[in-house]
Amino acid sequence: MTMKHLVPKTFLIAACLSVGLTAKAEDGSAAWLRYAPIANAKQYETLPAVIVSRGESASERAAAEELRRGLTSMLGRPFTVAKNGRGAAILLTADAHLPSESYRIARNIHGLHIDGSSPAAELYGVFHFLELIASQRPIRDEKTQSPSATIRWTDEWDNLNGTIERGYAGRSIFFDNGHVRADLTRAGEYARLLASVGINGCNVNNVNADLDTLSPEHLREFARIADVFRPWGVKLALSIDLTSPQTIGGLDTFDPVDPKVIAWWQSKAAEIYKLIPDFAGFTVKADSEGRKGPSQYGRTPADAANVLARALKPHGGVVLYRGFVYNNHLDWNDRKADRARAGVDNFVKNDGTFDPNVIIQIKEGPIDFQAREPVSPLFAALHKTNVAIEVQTAQEYTGQQRHMVFLPSMWKWVLDTDLRAPGADGKPRATPVKSIVTGHAFPNADGSARMGGFISVTNVGLDANWLHHPMAMANLYGFGRLAWNPDTPVDEIANTWSTMTWGSDAAVRATVPKMLLGSWQVYEGHTGPNGIGTLTNILGYHFGPGIESAERNGWGQWFRGEKDGIGMDRTSAGTGYIQQYPPELAAKYESLATIPDDLLLFFHHVPYDYRLHSGKTLVQSIYDTHYASALAAAEYVPQWKSLQGRIDPERYTQTLHLFEFQAGHAIVWRDAINQWFAKQSGIPDAMHRVGNDPGRMEAEAVKADGFTPVDVTPWETASGGKAMVCHDAKGCTLTTTVQQPSGKYNVAVQYYDMWSGISRYELLVDGKRVAQWSADDTLPPAQFDAAPDGQTATRFTAQGIALHPGATMTLHAMPDMRSELEHVMPAAEANSQLRPRDYREFAPVDYIVIGPDGDLTPQ
Ligand code: GCU
Repeated sequence: MTMKHLVPKTFLIAACLSVGLTAKAEDGSAAWLRYAPIANAKQYETLPAVIVSRGESASERAAAEELRRGLTSMLGRPFTVAKNGRGAAILLTADAHLPSESYRIARNIHGLHIDGSSPAAELYGVFHFLELIASQRPIRDEKTQSPSATIRWTDEWDNLNGTIERGYAGRSIFFDNGHVRADLTRAGEYARLLASVGINGCNVNNVNADLDTLSPEHLREFARIADVFRPWGVKLALSIDLTSPQTIGGLDTFDPVDPKVIAWWQSKAAEIYKLIPDFAGFTVKADSEGRKGPSQYGRTPADAANVLARALKPHGGVVLYRGFVYNNHLDWNDRKADRARAGVDNFVKNDGTFDPNVIIQIKEGPIDFQAREPVSPLFAALHKTNVAIEVQTAQEYTGQQRHMVFLPSMWKWVLDTDLRAPGADGKPRATPVKSIVTGHAFPNADGSARMGGFISVTNVGLDANWLHHPMAMANLYGFGRLAWNPDTPVDEIANTWSTMTWGSDAAVRATVPKMLLGSWQVYEGHTGPNGIGTLTNILGYHFGPGIESAERNGWGQWFRGEKDGIGMDRTSAGTGYIQQYPPELAAKYESLATIPDDLLLFFHHVPYDYRLHSGKTLVQSIYDTHYASALAAAEYVPQWKSLQGRIDPERYTQTLHLFEFQAGHAIVWRDAINQWFAKQSGIPDAMHRVGNDPGRMEAEAVKADGFTPVDVTPWETASGGKAMVCHDAKGCTLTTTVQQPSGKYNVAVQYYDMWSGISRYELLVDGKRVAQWSADDTLPPAQFDAAPDGQTATRFTAQGIALHPGATMTLHAMPDMRSELEHVMPAAEANSQLRPRDYREFAPVDYIVIGPDGDLTPQ
């Protein structure tokens, strides 16, 4: 007799289920769709175990299978799918009477009904139902749920060679080596994730589109992506370059009003729809950052958008024409020049001339996804044009998925911002951004809502967990929830996502959402607060501090930090930008009495000792905010550690490392910005913290053997402006004599971790090794950054180190001297025209700090 015969059947089912769940390491790939067994499955015991779905389409089959899989896993009993059912069942049905893309969940004597207006809507209903179970909410009849807007897309900035512009989670899931990947499993899984939060479109290629995108060969390949998206109701869209009729069509022009060009786009659209019948449409970046556009022929954005729109119209496609059109060669010396003005200046004159299937895709703020910007005035300036909002889940300026920043907090703030646009009677009325992008604030002539929507630049990659930082997935989830319903409270988003992602343990539920909900403020607080901009290196990777990179160049991300004061004067006496807002809001921003502190420097140039509404001077507030925020970032570490054992070890450990990194990098930010303000303003910190760091030993000031000093650029990204580097293959040492009283301490080493090399460090006390680590991180700036600076600054903290006065503390560093440049040089750079650089990592060290024992107290 085999073992099997001795085991009761119910036990076997439970065992299979749990093996199924635990056998696969939790690498994050399941995201919020883990379907972990819930604690109190009993409350759903009356839920029928048969799912009846008569639908034949791929989406209906996917919906039924998703429901089976999710319920079986979460409730620990088997559910089955049937074509017909006797007795009570969960019935998935199409109901053509429901509004477009809508679903309804209701109960009656036959069981539970999940009705959808379309197969995709059935999927939305199923995912919503599974979410209710995962968060252990009661099953009730719900009123019909409909999305707030038609366009709910992600944009992926993937290049055909497999790299991703501003992608921070590995290479493309769609492309490799100039082609669509042979294996599109991940692309299909991604579409499932998108569908689970109601996203219905995905643009897969970079807005800086490859000129070859629309070649017949590529189109045939793109059709394969559309095929794996289709079961999930996600439509494929493509970014295109306006010069295509010339570059791949062989015409002598791409002038949008030229009949040859018009005909070319028409036949190209027909070719696309033959391959991809449900193709969603084009996204267009033109006349921006080096992309050619209609201005070359004296044509307008409407001329360009409409030629595409008319070609797509017979097939049902749309054009997302990006409002991100500006001149990146502005004159720094012109006090009236202002990049923020560009959106309204470029588009408002064409209001009313765009075809009905054109949507202007407007970034949330007038500059570029900074830690905080006011909302773009273009939302309120176009009254006869469809508009959609573009946000960025890819954390380009918000820590690049190495920092936790819960962006739905920011997006909700944007969506709720009331622009107070005048109505027909000329009086200001409630026009929050959400009412504009959902097409209600400025309806069509017949009173119906305009087409509008939500786009998230997302840039998932091949990293198992899609976005690298497990917490970053809350942003993708939250984007979908807000696009479906912009009135969804952010704490509801944080709670539900956390429970689905990390489980329903009470301590986890109490901790994770709280960490998320404060995180935007924390990041803003240790980077660029008061509306100044993130203060990152805008010329490079937009990751670490690089304050003055924003000034004195044509990019127009200026904050004009001068002797007399700081901030862009955008009042009517300045660039006049404020006047682009409707009068009531303009008046609020124009006056120092009413401008909110968190937007002050975006709009006004004020002295450093200007007194904020908070009662503090600007500069003191900068200092205080940076200390408080770096401390808050450091506290993520003990907060997270308190959850050890309540979360699976793989994801726990990965997330812990990220929080440890963030704690160290927040100190780099804090010190860079505070030192810069102290120098610039000449006003010391009233609390005597800035420039006075107890227990800190500059590497260049202690006894060094083999190390040589280097200047770090920009100066504020190294303590004292200098670091030490080791060019000796045998290694170098820094030695100091401990002054502190006997006890346990944290010893932190601030060093620079380049992408390429792996330097090794060890810390010794009286000749005995107490800690060792390798500088093996691959920080986001990745391949192109080989310098010690704000992007690579990293901290290692050894905790609980016993010291006594007179002890010798030694840092021993081994550089990575591998000189096979090709080996470490990324292929992309090796093949490019770029000058080969030295990719060796010379074990750079900034400082060592001895501080109180405990969890990463910032020093
Ligand atoms: C930012 C980003 C670019 C991107 C551009 C855009 O400037 O850094 O990589 O191409 O936005 O949105 O078009």
